[in-house]
Amino acid sequence: MKKISLLFFIACAMLLVVSCTKKTDVGITPEPLSYSFGKGSFEWNKDTRIIFNGSKDAQTIVETAFSETSFPVSFAAAQPGNNCIQLELTDSISGVTSPEAYSLHVGEDGVKIQALSEAGLFYGVQSLIQLAEQGEGCIQSVDVLDEPRFPYRGIMLDVSRHFRSKDFVKKQIDLLSHYKFNRLHLHLTDAAGWRIAIDKYPRLTQFAAWRKGKTWKEWWNGDRGYCEETDPEAQGGYYTKDDIREMVEYARQHCITIIPEIEMPSHSDEVLTAYPELSCTHEPGKQSDFCVGNEKTFEFLEDVLTEVMELFPSEYIHIGGDEAAKSAWKTCPLCQKRMKEEGLKDVDELQSYLIHRIERFLNEHGRSLLGWDEILQGGLAPNATVMSWRGEQGGIDAALSGHHAIMTPGEYCYFDSYQDAPYSQPEAIGGYLPLSKVYSYNPVPDSLSADNQKMILGVQANVWAEYIPTDEHMEYMLYPRAIALSEVAWTAPERKSWDSFHDRILKIIPQLKAKGYNAFDYAKEIGNRKEYNQPVEHLAVGKKVTFNIPYWPNYPANGEKTLTDGLRGGWNYNDKRWLGFAENHRMDVVIDLEKVTKIHSVSADFMQICGPYVFMPSEVVISSSVDGKDYTQLTAIKHQVQKDDSVSFKKFGWEGETDARYIRYQAMADSLYKDGIQFVDEIIVK
Ligand code: ACM
Repeated sequence: MKKISLLFFIACAMLLVVSCTKKTDVGITPEPLSYSFGKGSFEWNKDTRIIFNGSKDAQTIVETAFSETSFPVSFAAAQPGNNCIQLELTDSISGVTSPEAYSLHVGEDGVKIQALSEAGLFYGVQSLIQLAEQGEGCIQSVDVLDEPRFPYRGIMLDVSRHFRSKDFVKKQIDLLSHYKFNRLHLHLTDAAGWRIAIDKYPRLTQFAAWRKGKTWKEWWNGDRGYCEETDPEAQGGYYTKDDIREMVEYARQHCITIIPEIEMPSHSDEVLTAYPELSCTHEPGKQSDFCVGNEKTFEFLEDVLTEVMELFPSEYIHIGGDEAAKSAWKTCPLCQKRMKEEGLKDVDELQSYLIHRIERFLNEHGRSLLGWDEILQGGLAPNATVMSWRGEQGGIDAALSGHHAIMTPGEYCYFDSYQDAPYSQPEAIGGYLPLSKVYSYNPVPDSLSADNQKMILGVQANVWAEYIPTDEHMEYMLYPRAIALSEVAWTAPERKSWDSFHDRILKIIPQLKAKGYNAFDYAKEIGNRKEYNQPVEHLAVGKKVTFNIPYWPNYPANGEKTLTDGLRGGWNYNDKRWLGFAENHRMDVVIDLEKVTKIHSVSADFMQICGPYVFMPSEVVISSSVDGKDYTQLTAIKHQVQKDDSVSFKKFGWEGETDARYIRYQAMADSLYKDGIQFVDEIIVK
């Protein structure tokens, strides 16, 4: 009897070994549209055959889809029996409409992936690989139906500030395509270096692609100049035409379209130093903006774009368009002549003239213009698509006027921001964008009507690289945040769940590291500034503040209430808790406590982050008054502002005892830092 029960126990144990661990969450990232578990399981083993009868080109994409798995990949024309993964292109799949949709059946009868396109097959395979990895080849029976929320799911890599090799780009394509991204935008040109070979203008790569500072920061703090490629100290690089062809083809096989960005009319210091005759003043090293009055500018831009279009088959060509100073245009005789002849009333319209003309050129060549949201200034070109980075307003305005838009607002999509407490991180440009905030983003503003919402094509994260000198560092800024964005881009909002994603990402990060990606270790996240999470009670909460000098409208936080709303700021001056002061280089406010009150302390925290010109005050004066006319100085604090690489916070306050109804808080900027901004979150009165 004992023997029988032992045998029975062993048999049960064996059964447990051959069937997979039962799951309730399918564990595919990005979360799919729907799934239902079935009975039994499928085991992907050395005898499993992959069956696909498609064109040679489709076969290449299918083979690429399997290229990143460690499970056996063996193709066959047909296989009797159930041990096969069958892939099939079909004309329709019930319940989905996107051309990138797929269905995935896993059962004891085998695996079947059906899709409307090669991309759909690619994504079905990525989901299958994830299922197989979780069960070490044993996959619980399941039927998955899936399609993306958005047709545009992008990442932008800035390869100008620090050049990245084609192998680095290809390595990112491997991972990004696994998480179902389909666009890779390369920021190929900027003041810090031109990165693409153009036969007609060899100085772009012999000279404008090279500088002496290894890091952007050294270069920026140095002469901001360029040097010959042959200079022994030259730093930089560029993609040859063959490099570009290789990356474009590699991306295509991974169902990713590479979108090139060629900056105009600004961010072009490197071009205008190599070819100074294209700027208004013809002075090398002094200009960022092309001269829009000069026909040679258009000759140059069209020549460059012609060679760019030969290399990149993408529908979109990104023409930058951001942050033009336009100042030289105001006095340049050629620009002024152009404005007169074309009836352009200001320099915004002159910029718009250039964008319209470039759009016509791209359209004539069967391409579409994509640009940063400043291309709205002076009138948007008729077929342009707007990439909204200064918040969402640009995207909203574009959608309202019948244009497509891609959302990439700094607050959610700028992966050059700190992803954890700045003191625990490598130096970044500023900001604070933790994983959960990326995940929380909804790229479709509620304010748009259902029809206008359709104009939002998707979402993109940008990895600007001023403070990202190495490949490892760029991966660190990308992952895992890019994976959170993949779910924003792919998954229907009602299917998103932070709790589910949180559990999955904790498992994914060690996998990324095992594959050689330098992901941030999210499991050790510190989180936001502790003050941010604790409202503070004090005597001035809810009390009126009079601004003797207005706060800076660019950073209005919670407006006039900010300094007395009981809410403290976090790591980021952009978190709507920090009020900015830039006018007259000072803050000067009066709080009315409504009645004479005994007070013991008055204090405020200031933030400093030197990169974006945020500085501590050089002097703080705190005074009090019972009648609002005669003030007594409580304290005057001098502070020596020190430039550094960190994000720091400092309290400036008074302690003592006095009776007061009015409290005046003044903070002065150091004369050395007059262009800077002060940020204050709360004036705490106790
Ligand atoms: C940008 O960040 N200047 C597009």
